[in-house]
Amino acid sequence: MAAKILLIHGPNLNMLGKREPEVYGRMTLEQIDQRLQAHASEAGHELKTFQSNGEGALIDAIHDAAEWADGIIINAGAYTHTSIALRDAISSVNLPTIEVHLSNVHARESFRHKSFIAPVCLGTIAGFGWHSYLLGLDGLLAHLKNAT
Ligand code: DQA
Repeated sequence: MAAKILLIHGPNLNMLGKREPEVYGRMTLEQIDQRLQAHASEAGHELKTFQSNGEGALIDAIHDAAEWADGIIINAGAYTHTSIALRDAISSVNLPTIEVHLSNVHARESFRHKSFIAPVCLGTIAGFGWHSYLLGLDGLLAHLKNAT
């Protein structure tokens, strides 16, 4: 089955490469998107990417995904720790969704330990740098394969 996946990046992730490289690595968002797109297409799947710094735009992208996508991978950035609206958007579309983080949020400040979106996601991957996205994609594809 050829799956259609939406990869969503939240606030400040457009700054990757320049932003705290000791925490988030040196890969730019464009490079991460390219690697994920290559990985998906090599396996015969389609991956679209979206980044926004705005909560509303992220919610709109999740609603829109209900029309075409089979699953979502999301790094919600700081909205992970604050946004009930994002959590409600994920649960409203009923698509398998994987939460990813570049850094190990549980080894950082306590305000990063709480995720509002984790309870409505299939699983969470954190702490593996840009590989978190790759692991998230493989996890989602394995889930979709099992579900069909
Ligand atoms: C992040 C972790 C969040 O706590 C932080 O606000 C981010 C990036 C990560 O990928 O490690 O913006 O989601």
